[in-house]
Amino acid sequence: MISVGIIGGTGYTGKYLIEYCTKHPYIKDFNIYAKTSAGENLHSVFPQLVGTVEDQTINSVENISLNHDAYFIALPHGESLNYIPSLESTNKLVIDLGGDYRLDEESLYEKWYNYTHSSSYLLSKKVYGLADESIDYTNTNLISNPGCYPTGSLLALLPLVKNFSENILSISISAYSGTSGAGKSPKADLMLSEMDGNVKAYNVNKHRHLPEIAQELAKAGYNRNLSFTTHLLPISKGIYTTCSIHLKNELDENSILETYKNDYTNSNYIRLRTTPPDLSWVVNTNYCDINICLSGKTLIITSAIDNLIKGASGQAMQNMNQYFGWENTLGIMDSKLNVIDKKLISA
Ligand SMILES: NC(=O)c1ccc[n+]([C@@H]2O[C@H](COP(=O)([O-])OP(=O)(O)OC[C@H]3O[C@@H](n4cnc5c(N)ncnc54)[C@H](OP(=O)(O)O)[C@@H]3O)[C@@H](O)[C@H]2O)c1
Repeated sequence: MISVGIIGGTGYTGKYLIEYCTKHPYIKDFNIYAKTSAGENLHSVFPQLVGTVEDQTINSVENISLNHDAYFIALPHGESLNYIPSLESTNKLVIDLGGDYRLDEESLYEKWYNYTHSSSYLLSKKVYGLADESIDYTNTNLISNPGCYPTGSLLALLPLVKNFSENILSISISAYSGTSGAGKSPKADLMLSEMDGNVKAYNVNKHRHLPEIAQELAKAGYNRNLSFTTHLLPISKGIYTTCSIHLKNELDENSILETYKNDYTNSNYIRLRTTPPDLSWVVNTNYCDINICLSGKTLIITSAIDNLIKGASGQAMQNMNQYFGWENTLGIMDSKLNVIDKKLISA
């Protein structure tokens, strides 16, 4: 049994971590840490958890206990730099949901995050935790949980890139997110009156998830033409990703599908679909639904995830389970029916 610290546990992703910790059979207790809500009760921050999660007082981030066995860090980017180096040095498991350790190159933080990294020695020590790919956790206690857009994009693309990178001319990703992707702090352009009935592209060619996606595609063998356009949807949760891939030569759709089935054979969270998925099929779950559609030299791969679960807290809990060698559904799913046959699933 372990004890867990959730740093930044009063935010959107924190709420799911709290629910998963409560349901997890091997977590004996957990404490929540935050800044402005320190001293408040959990039930006043999250009234919807009354009756399902025991109340506790939110602790200050100034007093993080070193007695926990594992830490989830769910802070705005830049803030985790203040806490992760000392927590990591205790050899306890640290899982960062933010972007502060995802990039391997220190210089990319100045360009994309506008700060100088203060613990760059950890960039090579961390493991990038795309939890449905096989990850070697043996030489690290720092897991950098992928961003929400990179999760949807990379799960859709990596099996293709790993096996057919020489056949790819270009990859163009169009991704659509609900407004919870920006966290709970108020922003004028995310207000209901701005977003109701509206869709818009934002941060075009400037989104900081672009270097993260490019980094992981390069590791898998592809470092050529890549575009990434992010859009806001008038919904709260979910990310829908459409990847358009132009090929040098025609490929066989069945051999591509076989690659995906093989790559994800041990993953109980990837569902390969015969039709493009609906976002509603995955919202409130840790699943990523994927469809592959080839026409001549154009391949369209669509994926759908819940940004707060598969794109954040569900994946983080999955990483913790896998790190400790536990069943990866613990805390996340109640059902025993967690083995997905890698036959294609019809809608
Ligand atoms: N939202 C998503 O879809 C998503 C997906 C993947 C990854 N992420 C990443 O996960 C992290 C958390 O995201 P979120 O959406 O949960 O954010 P959020 O809703 O804004 O919550 C942020 C949390 O951090 C605390 N906090 C804010 N400023 C702080 C400071 N200076 N010192 C200490 N605590 C502070 C807040 O608590 P108080 O206000 O009570 O202090 C709150 O608990 C971010 O790095 C984000 O990029 C988010």
